Amino acid sequence: MEPAPELLFYVNGRQVIERNADPEMMLLPYLRKKLRLTGTKYGCGGGGCGACTVMISRHNPTTKKIRHYPASACLIPICSLHGAAVTTVEGIGSTKTRIHPVQERIAKCHGTQCGFCTPGMVMSIYTLLRNHPEPTMDQLTDALGGNLCRCTGYRPIIDACKTFCKSSGCCQSKENGICCLDQGINGLPEFEEGNKTSPKLFSEEEFLPLDPTQELIFPPELMIMAEKQPQKTRVFGGERMTWISPVTLQGLLEAKFKYPQAPVVMGNTSVGPEVKFKGVFHPVIISPDRIEELSVVNHAHDELTLGAGLSLAQVKNILADVVQKLPEEKTQIYRALLKHLGTLAGSQIRNMASLGGHVMSRHLDSDLNPLLAVGNCTLNLLSKDGERQIPLNEQFFSKCPDADLKPQEILISVSIPYSRKWEFVSAFRQAQRQQNALAIVNSGMRVFFGEGDGVIRELSIFYGGVGATTVCAKNSCQKLIGRPWNEEMLDTACRLVLDEVWLPGSAPGGKVEFKRTLIVSFLFKFYLEVSQILKRMDPVHYPSLADEYESALEDLHSRHHWNTIKYQNVDPEQLPGDPVGHPIMHLSGVKHATGEAIYCDDMPAVDRELFLTFVTSSRAHAKIVSIDLSEALNMPGVVDIVTAEHLSGVNSFLFYSKPEKFLATDKVFCVGHLVCAVIADSEVQAKRAAKRVKIIYQDLEPLILTIEEAIQHNSFFKPERKLEYGNVDEAFKVVDQILEGEIYMGGQEHFYMETQSMLVVPKGEDQEMDVYVSTQFPKYIQDIVASTLKLPANKVMCHVRRVGGAFGGKVIKTGVMAAVTAFAANKHGRAVRCILERGEDMLITGGRHPYLGKYKAGFMNDGRILALDMEHYSNGGATLDESLFVIELGILKMDNAYKFPNLRCQGWVCKTNLPSNTAFRGFGFPQAGLITESCITEVAAKCGLSPEKVRTINMYKDLDQTPYKQEINAKNLIQCWTECMAMSSYSLRKEAVEKFNKENYWKKKGLAIVPLKFPVGFGSVAAGQAAALVHIYLDGSVLVTHGGIEMGQGVHTKMIQGL
Ligand SMILES: Cc1cc2nc3c(=O)[nH]c(=O)nc-3n(C[C@H](O)[C@H](O)[C@H](O)COP(=O)(O)OP(=O)(O)OC[C@H]3O[C@@H](n4cnc5c(N)ncnc54)[C@H](O)[C@@H]3O)c2cc1C
Ligand code: FES
Ligand code: FES
Repeated sequence: MEPAPELLFYVNGRQVIERNADPEMMLLPYLRKKLRLTGTKYGCGGGGCGACTVMISRHNPTTKKIRHYPASACLIPICSLHGAAVTTVEGIGSTKTRIHPVQERIAKCHGTQCGFCTPGMVMSIYTLLRNHPEPTMDQLTDALGGNLCRCTGYRPIIDACKTFCKSSGCCQSKENGICCLDQGINGLPEFEEGNKTSPKLFSEEEFLPLDPTQELIFPPELMIMAEKQPQKTRVFGGERMTWISPVTLQGLLEAKFKYPQAPVVMGNTSVGPEVKFKGVFHPVIISPDRIEELSVVNHAHDELTLGAGLSLAQVKNILADVVQKLPEEKTQIYRALLKHLGTLAGSQIRNMASLGGHVMSRHLDSDLNPLLAVGNCTLNLLSKDGERQIPLNEQFFSKCPDADLKPQEILISVSIPYSRKWEFVSAFRQAQRQQNALAIVNSGMRVFFGEGDGVIRELSIFYGGVGATTVCAKNSCQKLIGRPWNEEMLDTACRLVLDEVWLPGSAPGGKVEFKRTLIVSFLFKFYLEVSQILKRMDPVHYPSLADEYESALEDLHSRHHWNTIKYQNVDPEQLPGDPVGHPIMHLSGVKHATGEAIYCDDMPAVDRELFLTFVTSSRAHAKIVSIDLSEALNMPGVVDIVTAEHLSGVNSFLFYSKPEKFLATDKVFCVGHLVCAVIADSEVQAKRAAKRVKIIYQDLEPLILTIEEAIQHNSFFKPERKLEYGNVDEAFKVVDQILEGEIYMGGQEHFYMETQSMLVVPKGEDQEMDVYVSTQFPKYIQDIVASTLKLPANKVMCHVRRVGGAFGGKVIKTGVMAAVTAFAANKHGRAVRCILERGEDMLITGGRHPYLGKYKAGFMNDGRILALDMEHYSNGGATLDESLFVIELGILKMDNAYKFPNLRCQGWVCKTNLPSNTAFRGFGFPQAGLITESCITEVAAKCGLSPEKVRTINMYKDLDQTPYKQEINAKNLIQCWTECMAMSSYSLRKEAVEKFNKENYWKKKGLAIVPLKFPVGFGSVAAGQAAALVHIYLDGSVLVTHGGIEMGQGVHTKMIQGL
């Protein structure tokens, strides 16, 4: 028998050889667990967050070029890496050797807070610099498009990266010959504030220079391997899956003939997420490696043929080159494709995903397929039986057998025809943000007039996001052929298309009305775009567009990040050694940037460590009829399954007077309710076994999901909260006007980049436990674990070095999970780790409370609000958690910056069948503040005054008293408000906005200024207290132990500044 091939690749300049490569193993866990390179982080596991970004480098023996590209390690099967060099954040610099300029600058420019996203950011920028040592701002923002940060905000990160650009610190835009450095924003003069502010938080002169000659070289061994090694199909056999990597076209066809059902994995950005999130399993995978025929770029006299194996990033570069070289009339389709390639996913995914994989996936929201279809593209196929071509059309999208690939066929390339004179193609897309977000609706549209008479000869319209796959408005297009391009035609087109591309009210993904609006809006924009070009081409025959329409044509560009920020200077009298007030960088900043900062799951495995995973309810409100654990318990590696029965007597913990239950007993109250916990030798085994736990449910009534349903069923957590000041009812009798209104706002996911993580280690003596956990509230974790194990608190040591983001979401549910994990650890006397995957995390934990606010305001015609009666309803979910706290603080903060002389505000927490909502940034204020501010905006409208005027009129004045009878001196508030107005040139900007809105029918700008008064700490003084223990050692070093948790705010840095 032939020996199994070796998988050989390099990581950070070191050779890695795997003799038993597992095809199911992705690069991310391989780096983290096997190579112990924990700098590369897990944030989502699905290519969406960029935390796992690494640089992949490959040598092309034909072109002799090395390609460096960013990639998401979570979606790279290690078997696909043969011959590649992987660079991780550890490979570019460390505090032990030298830090890389990217690492230094992101830290020194304050581009890190919790630091969990930072290694990914660093690697995206590092890869950009490997390809472009002096990037432009466009390249920079493009490179960061696939990286999310939940703490820092992107400005300081961009600031750091801008220092590598040629002319940094400037918008680099020369629109109208004016750049941001030449004048104030919007051409408005800036407020001069003397010398109290400093423009910079860092000094560029101190930075290490970027020296490209110092970077790791591409391993010569891999170069020789690529050039000289005999080409042979590699086969890796895993426990459940076989990976076949043919290296010649012949080998690929043979493999596909032998395994017709096996997917052809290229970038794995479509197959990978299906396997991970939808439980799809492929026993065999075929993954071609460096087959030249799949990378062809062929220019014929009337079309361009692109190999199916080219990455979307390569396609983008090729098309950018083609549109430069060919006349505009031939490149209509290429231009449209380029527009969408600029926003499709992030740079990592575009560099991994292939053209063939994209076309073949036929995702309903594919950005390219609608354009390729309107462009009459052809798919060139090959199998052992020979070549054939099929059109990329609606039958292909709906997988009609006659129009689809046969199972043994391979897509070799895609031919994209040149456009003709009088032919126009447009691309439209609406997503929640420009980059790295799937389109809600997208579209490709093409019209061909044949000649300059403006009569439609061909029309083709495809939409994405509105059906199970890309759909065609074929009948509508046919009916419009022969019609002149005018408003009458547009009118008919809109009606026909809306009829044909019909969306039922219950369409998956919802947003039906919005999608219908987009369907028509895109058509309207297409009409305008084409009309404008026709006018340009033949001004005599085509009328000018009405001025008011023109504003619909310009795309909304997100401008480069340029801004004016003023920082307060430290008092010049302050002693030089006194660091208070100085912008000191986060003390862990450099470690964040080098990947050396240790988070919970970065800790190495403890001897005989177990992994715990939760089984959760799939029903929102149901009785548990039975739980069958037998099959799961018999799975390999499974050690135990903990249920509520095992926790008898300790299955709950008292928080805020209501017990929080850990595991469900006889009923479940939300989807994601914890039912039991599977403990196994490894994460994979625990997850596989969890799927075999069989639970039979019986649905229960009522099912309450919304605030309205809770009000209807009188389903509330007690007690209701109420704040009353003055005499509201009397005041309503004397006011000029009364208005009543309501506002609803939805919830929000915390999406801390580090998911819920914990490791509980029994110390083996006196039942002592070490709990390593990502939490904001270690004291609570200590209490809940001690109570569950029936131990005094002093036996439980809770360690939190740092937290990769929390935002309120790492307290109560974290405690519940830590309690169950500790129970398992104690029972088996072994360390137990529990790390949630992103999907589990979002399922199990709640987020920000959705709110319904009702208000009745009594006010005078001059804008003074004399009486305010408010009701706040929050959707608390299935258990109380911190909901009463949140609603209470919302009520206490609802006055914001205003004195309402007569005020009543009541609050109810609705009990519903959703995962329990909890604390979230702002702790009730964002919702309460929004209700108050929208009431004020309405009052302003009724009085015919500007909202800022009504805000000023009602603001606290000098010495005053809040509704909860706290004295307040509003001097700072008023000064801050006045300064902001002046420094932002508010009134000038407002005039500019009003002028813009008058001149633009379709695009509108808005401007608002809102004050914010935010109290520090909790309602009770006791809850805000803290202590610290300071040790001073004989060598003069100092150790401060304090109760603050480092979760990005830099509390340790501040402690040291304060010392
Ligand atoms: C985080 C993220 C964000 C995304 N955002 C967007 C977005 O904004 N817009 C958008 O349009 N798309 C988006 N996508 C989807 C992405 O474009 C597709 O996943 C990608 O193009 C698929 O290419 P691939 O090479 O990775 O396919 P793979 O996963 O490798 O393969 C996909 C399928 O294609 C088949 N296949 C591949 N090549 C061939 C071939 N040569 N012959 C026959 N069959 C073949 C395989 O059998 C498999 O069934 C996103 C994906 C991710 C993960
Ligand atoms: S992109 Fe890989 S973990 Fe999010
Ligand atoms: S610093 Fe970016 S996620 Fe925390």
